[in-house]
Amino acid sequence: ETVDVDPAAYEAGEHESFMHKEMLEQPAAAERVLGGRLDERFGTAHLGGLNMDARETRAIRRVKILGCGSAYYVGQMGAALVEELARIPADAEAASEFRYRDPVIEPDTLYVAVSQSGETIDTLLAVQEIRRKGGRVIGLVNVVGSAIARECEGGIYLHAGPEVAVASTKALTNMFLGFALLALQLGRVRDLSIADGRRLINGLSRIPEQIQEILDREDEIAAVAGQLAAADSLFFVGRVRGFPVAREGAQKFKEISYRHAEAYQTSELKHGPLALVSEQVPTVAIVPDDELTDRNVGALHEIAARRGPLVVVTHEGVDLGEVECTRIDVPRNERELDPVLLVVPLQLLAFHAALQLGHDIDKPRNLAKSVTVE
Ligand code: AGP
Repeated sequence: ETVDVDPAAYEAGEHESFMHKEMLEQPAAAERVLGGRLDERFGTAHLGGLNMDARETRAIRRVKILGCGSAYYVGQMGAALVEELARIPADAEAASEFRYRDPVIEPDTLYVAVSQSGETIDTLLAVQEIRRKGGRVIGLVNVVGSAIARECEGGIYLHAGPEVAVASTKALTNMFLGFALLALQLGRVRDLSIADGRRLINGLSRIPEQIQEILDREDEIAAVAGQLAAADSLFFVGRVRGFPVAREGAQKFKEISYRHAEAYQTSELKHGPLALVSEQVPTVAIVPDDELTDRNVGALHEIAARRGPLVVVTHEGVDLGEVECTRIDVPRNERELDPVLLVVPLQLLAFHAALQLGHDIDKPRNLAKSVTVE
């Protein structure tokens, strides 16, 4: 399998940075990871590279996802997809911690390593630890033929094309979509109905154009970023599906704006961090239209009562009550797929905050694109 972008010919062009170019490439990149893998008729995904037959797939009792940084956060989104669609217990763990706790490796667990570069040393060593103990590992990797791709028994190439900016964007979007395809395939050989399979196929095929709709509102989101760039410290909050989105939003913000950005489960605010909320500490809240909307809106009131400035990433039509906030609406899709759309405004917020602060977007201080030494 190959990508259709030549890395040697890849330049920022008229974009002021690679990060900007790569954010704008997301609709095309998303088309590539989905291309040829959606089976409308049977409501499933076709993933030729997994190297697992139906019997082996049905025998999986647990899914464990390993990645670092943003790949770990998308791994959390992926674990939620596997649990929701395939009803297999799943979780994600930071690959950088995994091998240090002498992990128990189970034969009926499917291990999934997720990495853009395929060269991240912590993720590679986690894969080697699993294999040494007899476990099965597949990879969700962008760079074809990279160390992690070679070490895994099978996997899904992400086809995002070359990614140069340290702050990852299009590769993460494609990781999420890769997990959605995996969860769909695992689900359909188990109990996921063909109707649900088709519902998700339909949702997935709308994602590229919906990402484009958000990117088209860049100017509006840039104006909101101005409010956040002025703060020294801010919160990103979300619940369940929204929590890894908040973690990724805070990560992006830290990496390039150098502001202290902390992610919390919205439900945990009252257990401590609410003490920090004030006029000087804004919160970016992820409030999708789902079974938790009312509770999330309740938390917005608590923040507003402490005069905390609020930016709410939500869906059109969600009633936020009388809360004073700046809202950013993203298009609706199937609820399971919401995270991939909710995260795009957070990329734009981080990018425009960093731009307004005059930082080097593509090469933030202290960070490397891939961490290949321990
Ligand atoms: C993302 O914006 C970060 N630069 C970083 O967390 C990154 O996702 C992580 O280092 C993992 O890299 P990989 O996907 O190449 O393994």
